[in-house]
Amino acid sequence: MSSIVLFGPPGAGKGTQAERIEKSTGLPQISTGDMLRAAIAKGTDVGLEAKSYMDAGMLVPDDVIVALIKARLMEDDARNGVMFDGFPRTVVQAEALEKIAEISHVISIIVPDERIVERICGRFTCSGCGSVYHDTFKPTKVEGKCDHCGSEDFGRRSDDNEATVINRLSAYHSQTSPLADWYRQRGVLREVDGDREINQITTDILQTLEK
Ligand code: AP5
Ligand code: MG
Repeated sequence: MSSIVLFGPPGAGKGTQAERIEKSTGLPQISTGDMLRAAIAKGTDVGLEAKSYMDAGMLVPDDVIVALIKARLMEDDARNGVMFDGFPRTVVQAEALEKIAEISHVISIIVPDERIVERICGRFTCSGCGSVYHDTFKPTKVEGKCDHCGSEDFGRRSDDNEATVINRLSAYHSQTSPLADWYRQRGVLREVDGDREINQITTDILQTLEK
């Protein structure tokens, strides 16, 4: 079965939508950002190498990312297709992916730059289950308690500050956004307006996936 890609700038809502689409489609989310953060937390060689790039808001080298993805796709749950979140981010990565997986839809979540900083600087994540929240746009239903697992422990990402976000956006525009055309030429790009209410975007993406 084929896989899908969630594509978009930092803070576009890739992780937020992935959580919902995974529930509806059963396609497991593969977020290279989450994998790298897990590697940093474990102190692996990959984590050590990636940390300085991530803290600076720069892309981690392609060879590191492609090796991570190849290993992840060998796992059992990836057999029937997956949902990539934040991968590929360069043409080199997309070319490597083309050789190992079939991509049916690349969902490009479009959000203007001026929305990105407020989204990223207000984000917090449940330390128990990884659910993503926002101080203003998506608070927990009960203050200080995760809606999904009930944990009262939350964290903020070390790269979620205004200075780093500017660099992440700049890396997106110079290295990642050209991929939209690359996928448009292959007939799989689908654009979705990401500057709307979270549920509306989910509905839109699920309808797009049925076409
Ligand atoms: P990664 O973790 O992928 O970060 P990113 O691409 O910068 O994207 P984010 O996770 O910040 O945003 P998102 O789109 O998931 O938004 P979210 O749903 O959380 O990568 C981190 C770093 O790792 C990179 O900078 C790079 O160094 C490295 N890396 C990772 N992959 C790589 C690769 N393939 N190649 C090279 N390097 C790589 O939403 C954001 C906030 O907005 C949340 O608080 C959410 O609640 C809120 N929100 C979501 N949707 C809405 C909405 N519709 N309205 C209002 N608020 C909303
Ligand atoms: Mg994310």
